[in-house]
Amino acid sequence: MRFPTYRARRLRESTALRRLVQETRLAPSEFILPLFVVPGHDIRQEISSMPGQYHLSVDQTVEEAKSVVDHGIPAVLLFGLPEVKDPLGQEAYSPTGAVQQAVRALKQAVPTLIVITDVCLCEYTDHGHCGVVQGEHIVNDLTLELLQRTALSHVEAGADMVAPSDMMDGRVGAIRAFLDDKGYHTTPIMAYASKYASSFYGPFREAVQSAPQFGDRRSYQMDPANAREAVRETQLDIEEGADIVMVKPALPYLDVIARVRQITDLPLAAYNVSGEYAMIKAAARLGWLDEERAMLEALTSIKRAGADIIITYFAKDAVRLLAGGGV
Ligand code: PBG
Repeated sequence: MRFPTYRARRLRESTALRRLVQETRLAPSEFILPLFVVPGHDIRQEISSMPGQYHLSVDQTVEEAKSVVDHGIPAVLLFGLPEVKDPLGQEAYSPTGAVQQAVRALKQAVPTLIVITDVCLCEYTDHGHCGVVQGEHIVNDLTLELLQRTALSHVEAGADMVAPSDMMDGRVGAIRAFLDDKGYHTTPIMAYASKYASSFYGPFREAVQSAPQFGDRRSYQMDPANAREAVRETQLDIEEGADIVMVKPALPYLDVIARVRQITDLPLAAYNVSGEYAMIKAAARLGWLDEERAMLEALTSIKRAGADIIITYFAKDAVRLLAGGGV
């Protein structure tokens, strides 16, 4: 069927028609909002590189979580900052760490909210790497034990799901076995299966002061040039017991999302990271982009590529826009 018999524009004439034939729809139920928990009380301090995102003390995390629930967003992903950083990231697995306290408070105050915790050491280590450092090396197998302890401390506090983001080999299996052994066989793992060594984590690292003090993360995070390797990493995490697999970042890796979609029927999450958020915010501030349209377009593209779940700092803004009928 060729023009003039077929006219593609026929179905684009009105808002109602366009809605009727829309292939990809966003819904609040597929968003996860990341939150940054800090020690202290009554703290709600905006993160300069991430306008609209805050450092929150435990009490303020609870307030924010109530608003998240009111928006119809089902889950938060907690990151924490310690009082002090040290070479082994000890506050990551302390029962009194900011994240562990926040988990307890959230499960008490907003029990319907799914509380997911990021399991990693880089926010807690003084060298800023995601594992144990010996000389210039990040030592894989020694790190696994610390990750197991971190995950267990979150689950003991009441976390509904853990999300290891460190990219050590074997960590999903190690955490699964450890949790099972302690009786937590029903707690799911969302694995950062293909996490790339990306410049788009810049604003996040400023927010949690986790930039590596020497070297970079390329000996454990993936090379942005590799897509087949993402398939392999995903298959490994599935074999080790991942319940949800993730691609991170999202926008520069839409092809990877689409590719991973093809090889698994597990739920697939994509992380719309801090740099993707900051780019749109910054361009909008300069008047170079329409923030609302750019946000919804970006999120729609992530869904269209094949993600079931989108982890995004835009979650609340997007829900408000969708409720108003979009842009
Ligand atoms: C920790 C971690 C990072 C992010 C999530 N978990 C940073 C990193 O790997 O350096 C980035 C999130 C974002 O940029 O929004 N390993």
